[in-house]
Amino acid sequence: MAYTDLDNEVVKVDAVTFDYSNAASPVIDQLTLALKKSEITFLIGPSGSGKTTLLKLLAGLLEPGAGDITIQGVSLKRANSSERRATLRKVAMTFQRSGLFDSKTVLENLIFPLQELNRLSFEKALAEAEKVLDLVELKGHESKLPHEVSGGMQKRVGIGRALALSPEVVFYDDPTAGLDPITSKNIIELIIQIQKENKTTNLISTSDLDLAVNISRKIASKIAFLFEGKILQIGTADEILGSINPVIHQFTRGLLEGPLTKGAR
Ligand SMILES: Nc1ncnc2c1ncn2[C@@H]1O[C@H](COP(=O)(O)OP(=O)(O)O)[C@@H](O)[C@H]1O
Ligand SMILES: [Mg+2]
Repeated sequence: MAYTDLDNEVVKVDAVTFDYSNAASPVIDQLTLALKKSEITFLIGPSGSGKTTLLKLLAGLLEPGAGDITIQGVSLKRANSSERRATLRKVAMTFQRSGLFDSKTVLENLIFPLQELNRLSFEKALAEAEKVLDLVELKGHESKLPHEVSGGMQKRVGIGRALALSPEVVFYDDPTAGLDPITSKNIIELIIQIQKENKTTNLISTSDLDLAVNISRKIASKIAFLFEGKILQIGTADEILGSINPVIHQFTRGLLEGPLTKGAR
């Protein structure tokens, strides 16, 4: 049984440490985490806890200083450059600030990765982009520029762009940041619906506790709590809400007093 469990682990993070400079404490600190095939996991933590950094490490945009990341059985540390490239092509990340090209239309933003990264002809890229446009419910907005559509739509273009390359693993970095509660819920519902169709493995970072709790109760997913570059706890929404860890306790109750607000922090 243990063996099957290991086979199911699409993403494995093994004692990964990372720092941007040689600061006193690392941004990601000997972090260990596993994501199982076709599961959605939420990554929650206060701002500055290292969520974006962790996702960038997982997407191969940053190199661990120590430790290793294994994706579908391929160690990113041991893989040669072509194995590494092939593995990372199965992975996509969406960015907090959608990362769209301002001067390209919605449709052109979707066509771009298909042409540039997948080397598709314009006709094929266009056909794929139109499918994605449908998936992220943006039909009718294809010829608008990013600034001409709402914040929620911009997020959907960003999601569409990540999904255009048919990834097997998707890392969503704070996909609801800056959105109102209803638009946030719509974006998460969209992510879940797409996951059901494509059976991708997902890690969704957020600092929105209510959203993570509501959704993870609904779809029985786990929440991993990140603080100072370490996963303090991983469990169901109710396990996190009932945590006796003082940091998680303070965060989930929104208390002003506690380890999160101590001293220089
Ligand atoms: N490019 C960078 N250069 C230097 N420090 C950074 C950089 N990006 C993030 N940091 C620092 O790393 C820590 C974690 O940041 P981040 O991963 O963005 O956290 P989160 O996404 O949880 O808000 C913070 O202290 C932040 O200031
Ligand atoms: Mg972030």
